[in-house]
Amino acid sequence: MVYSPQTKVLFTRDEIQRVVNRLALEIRSDYTGKRLLVVGILKGSFVFMADLIRQLALPVEVEFVRLSSYGAGKETSGEVRMVQGLETAIEGRDVLVVEDIVDTGLSISLLLNYLREKRPASLKLCSLADKPSRRKVPVTIDYLGFTVPYKFIVGYGIDFDEKFRYLPDICFIDED
Ligand code: PRP
Repeated sequence: MVYSPQTKVLFTRDEIQRVVNRLALEIRSDYTGKRLLVVGILKGSFVFMADLIRQLALPVEVEFVRLSSYGAGKETSGEVRMVQGLETAIEGRDVLVVEDIVDTGLSISLLLNYLREKRPASLKLCSLADKPSRRKVPVTIDYLGFTVPYKFIVGYGIDFDEKFRYLPDICFIDED
């Protein structure tokens, strides 16, 4: 299916749903009986996070932080900014960070360091997608949905220049 001359489907909404269900099962088995705080990274994770927490079947609490690294374009600026930090204390809490995509790893590394300083009881990362070909700093992803190729990914919350977040499938920008 082609949405525009620019985008082609990489993973369909059905494939995404199966992966979200699998991740929810993995997370549920690790956190059953615990008081889990799920921290989403805006903006990219909002669609994934909404689906994931509804599949978890756990009494989670949710928080958001907002990071920004990409300017208007496909290349990261390399300068990650925390536009909005946490509004709640996480000391002693079991924290699960939900990210849409780990690319260079710069954004998530900054956030994990920021959260670690706040002394949570545990800190894990769930990412919908991983693009290991672009990594600049090592990142451990505890719960991973898809490994994606060296292409610009959009849809299911992920943007290019603030466009395409609304696409229900995970797509790539076709540059041919
Ligand atoms: C994107 C994406 C990740 C980050 C990954 O966010 O949502 O948070 O970049 O890239 P990295 O591993 O190279 O740091 P972006 O800064 O574009 O903001 P957004 O979530 O509002 O789209």
